[in-house]
Amino acid sequence: MKHLPRRSHRVVLAAVTSALALAGAALVVPSLAQAAASTLGAAAAQSGRYFGTAIAANRLNDSTYSTIAAREFNMITAENEMKPEALQPNRGQFNFSSGDQIYNWATQRGLQVRGHTLAWHAQQPGWMQSLNGSNLRQAMIDHINGVMAHYRGKLAAWDVVNEAFNEDGSRRSSNLQGTGNDWIEVAFRTARAADPSTKLCYNDYNIENWSYGKTQGVYNMIRDFKSRGVPIDCVGLQTHFTGGSSLPGNFQTTLQNFAALGVDVALTEVDVTNSSTSQYAGLTQACLNVPRCIGITVWGVRDSDSWRSNENPLLFDGSGNKKAAYTSVLNALNAATPNPTPTTTATATPTTTPTAGPTTPPPTNGASRIVGNQSGRCIDVPNSSQSNGTRVQLYDCHGQTNQRWTYTSSRQLTVYGSMCLDAAGSGNGSAVQIYSCNGQTNQQWNVNSNGTISGVQSGRCLDVWGTGNGQQVQLYDCNGQANQRFQLVATS
Ligand code: XIL
Repeated sequence: MKHLPRRSHRVVLAAVTSALALAGAALVVPSLAQAAASTLGAAAAQSGRYFGTAIAANRLNDSTYSTIAAREFNMITAENEMKPEALQPNRGQFNFSSGDQIYNWATQRGLQVRGHTLAWHAQQPGWMQSLNGSNLRQAMIDHINGVMAHYRGKLAAWDVVNEAFNEDGSRRSSNLQGTGNDWIEVAFRTARAADPSTKLCYNDYNIENWSYGKTQGVYNMIRDFKSRGVPIDCVGLQTHFTGGSSLPGNFQTTLQNFAALGVDVALTEVDVTNSSTSQYAGLTQACLNVPRCIGITVWGVRDSDSWRSNENPLLFDGSGNKKAAYTSVLNALNAATPNPTPTTTATATPTTTPTAGPTTPPPTNGASRIVGNQSGRCIDVPNSSQSNGTRVQLYDCHGQTNQRWTYTSSRQLTVYGSMCLDAAGSGNGSAVQIYSCNGQTNQQWNVNSNGTISGVQSGRCLDVWGTGNGQQVQLYDCNGQANQRFQLVATS
């Protein structure tokens, strides 16, 4: 076991003290008055959130559709293309063509992707529908492993299990439930092992009303998972408001109560009968009021694209015009307080260093090196590559352009002028790379008063496993330890 020499505690304390002094001075600088953003995605990003939509591959060459989708949203869910029936039409034969079509369309435009969904009673391929018992259990595990291997490190989150509860809070009977009550936790454990970099969500509808039986059933499962260490990072509330189900007065309470279990929450499939402006504004505000509500996704672009098109439930009409509900959502997003508490799935946080509030760093008009406190080495783009997706590493500091970073007023760390330090995912172990700057929250960083640098989207910290040349930089739960502390040092 390695002991820190006593001396280094003093060094750390001195560094923390001076960083705090700087933070105190810098806190005066940020202004709450921001220009109103003109798209849903940009407006949500002001408070560190995303605004997404479901996309259907067969509509992408409709230019009205794809123009709106790319302009307004910064998170994409495949409406059907990543479901089991789409991805594994025959047992053991995966077909990623339409899933990849969505993924490529989104990422080529700098948009992130939520995976939907790995294990569900509906939209199973025919061969899976007819399985049961241990054969089906194995097929579920194989499906999760096959799909997650393909998308490993690429997606912001996966809906691991979808719609597993009845309205009264009991488990829905299905062929999956028939394999044993532990099928959900087996799905989550399998998923974590298959791709540790993506957030793992449970997703369901009619869990918005806190006093409803189904909400309680799901809540109790998440509480149980957290208490037993079953890996789960988030709960998706589908938020389909239709028929008897509309915005409950206690929606924010529900979001808060889930979040208090130590998971992120997200509204994942929003649509509202006739697009009630008050319900749209209210559901948006409920999310904005809960720091761990990380984003909102509507289930389609125009009313004519909706699975409930006769209810006109979306934010754009059939011609692609913005509806009144669009404005009510945009206004709510623009009125939100900037930068909620960064989210993290960390459970235990060492308390040896002060909790870091996001802050602005020392003013730097010019470039800085980013020096690791533990290694003394700099964050470096290997071989001065300018290719999107090049992972950054530690390397001996030499001050050349591939080690010169500029911290901008919009919290980007730019290199070579127009490329940004970029998180390839948001989970533990996600790669940190360079990518063309696109204004998304996975390219925004908080330089914290305790010397850590955390991603606005993930809440996780820049982290290295070691100190040598070539050590890759990744995201990891912030723990304030030396391998997560970096200093911005102005280069002349
Ligand atoms: C729906 C799609 O929108 C339809 O195109 C498809 O025919 C059926 O599935 N809950 C979910 C989504 O989790 O996957 C569903 O999507 C809507 C309800």
